[in-house]
Amino acid sequence: MGKQPYAAQEILANYESINETLKNKQPKEILRYAIERHDGIAVSFSGAEDVVLVDMASKLKPGIEVFSLDTGRLHAQTYQFIEKIRTHYDIKLSILSPEREELEALTSAKGLFSFYEDGHKECCGIRKVTPLRRKLATLDAWVTGQRKDQSPNTRADVPTVQVDQAFSGRADSLAKYNPLANWTSAEVWMYIRMFDVPFNPLHESGYISIGCEPCTRPTNPSQHEREGRWWWEEATQKECGLHKAD
Ligand code: ADX
Ligand code: SF4
Repeated sequence: MGKQPYAAQEILANYESINETLKNKQPKEILRYAIERHDGIAVSFSGAEDVVLVDMASKLKPGIEVFSLDTGRLHAQTYQFIEKIRTHYDIKLSILSPEREELEALTSAKGLFSFYEDGHKECCGIRKVTPLRRKLATLDAWVTGQRKDQSPNTRADVPTVQVDQAFSGRADSLAKYNPLANWTSAEVWMYIRMFDVPFNPLHESGYISIGCEPCTRPTNPSQHEREGRWWWEEATQKECGLHKAD
């Protein structure tokens, strides 16, 4: 595949022009570009329709590293689906857990549903962001399934490639690829159907966007998919901190 030396640094230094080149390419080509240039690359997989990235990436690089943040609060169907994907594809799947001490301090002080009272930020910080930081410290690039059409409020500007802004400690050394940025939900589902990609059965029960069980609910056809996430909060705050800096 011919990896280029120092490619990660070159990409970080020139990401704006690289983004211009990549932004009209298909997700598979964007993934290929990323995989050819970064040894320390991993795909983040939430257990939803971002499975298309796992399908593409495992075909481009058998044995590729994939990671899922196990918040402890995912739906049973999502756990079963993640396990199915682990065995179905040629991938190296890491399942990341929260730090025990931090989590016990939160749940002992505030119980298991504090996010309904004082917002999701604290719980997401412990169950998602801290484990993600730990993982990203070992990588030079990561891949996400973010798309512009997932959230007009927070994702309208998602670029194809960026220097990771949310994890400032490594902002000079971490590239983030969003190969699906310009795909619509319809294109994702066309790919899933066309290539017989396994999918989370919750998608057949009215769930479009899928996160943790207590913080996700099905949406009806008149609602945007993001309305099913953290529905008790303001639309502009529907990010858990994986993709937005504080
Ligand atoms: S979130 O920020 O609201 O939770 P969303 O569910 O839209 O994110 O997923 C967007 C992308 O973030 C996913 O395609 C995936 O790359 C990453 N992501 C979200 N949740 C997880 C998770 N639990 N494990 C790994 N990656 C995740
Ligand atoms: Fe906690 Fe809900 Fe965030 Fe999951 S989505 S980490 S349960 S606040």
